[in-house]
Amino acid sequence: MKIKKILIISGSHKKDGNTATLINWFCEGAKAKGIKTEIIQAASLKSKILGCTSCRKCQKLKEYNCIINDEVSLVLKKMIKSDVIVFATPLYFFAASAPIKAIMDRMFSLYKWDNEADTFETPLRGKTLVLIASAYEDVGLDALEKPFKLTADYTGMKFKSLLVPNAGVSGTLKKNVKVKKQAIGFGKEMGTKPL
Ligand SMILES: Cc1cc2nc3c(=O)[nH]c(=O)nc-3n(C[C@H](O)[C@H](O)[C@H](O)COP(=O)(O)O)c2cc1C
Repeated sequence: MKIKKILIISGSHKKDGNTATLINWFCEGAKAKGIKTEIIQAASLKSKILGCTSCRKCQKLKEYNCIINDEVSLVLKKMIKSDVIVFATPLYFFAASAPIKAIMDRMFSLYKWDNEADTFETPLRGKTLVLIASAYEDVGLDALEKPFKLTADYTGMKFKSLLVPNAGVSGTLKKNVKVKKQAIGFGKEMGTKPL
């Protein structure tokens, strides 16, 4: 499948931090392969609720979206139109940052469940889920990766990740030429290696 559009959701509050640096390098690589990229700052989205309230009203809608009409539901619409969805996050206590988790939970509305038949439909099937993450230490990125990989498998999405341990405090990564090469290469892969 030819990748045309990548949606990147950043879960860091740091405009010039390690997550932003990795996203910029990744986009540089992807753009070099002619892929359109769009970056969303999860923490800046105007959201009426935090995460999913489990109202399940989305299940009664014809379309795939959350009934809460806010900027998160616009992001959900963008996910449907993208070939690749990237979650980029710093490691926070061995997990994703809160803005990322809040959006992920709203993705419940991108499924239509048939509990009796034990099946579901989703427009995410066949797309690719990418995780880009960094951590100060070299412990915990595997724990962070697990829910993303499980979600991709469950949803019928392909999965790829770029995990950067020992990234230092915010802003340090900018000087790391080895990771720069790796991240640009990872972005280029979106246009070269079949997903
Ligand atoms: C609230 C908070 C929790 C963190 N938890 C961890 C952690 O569990 N393990 C770790 O190695 N680094 C941890 N870090 C460090 C960041 O994950 C790391 O510096 C990351 O590269 C920062 O990315 P950013 O510049 O985009 O914010 C934490 C930092 C903060 C502010």
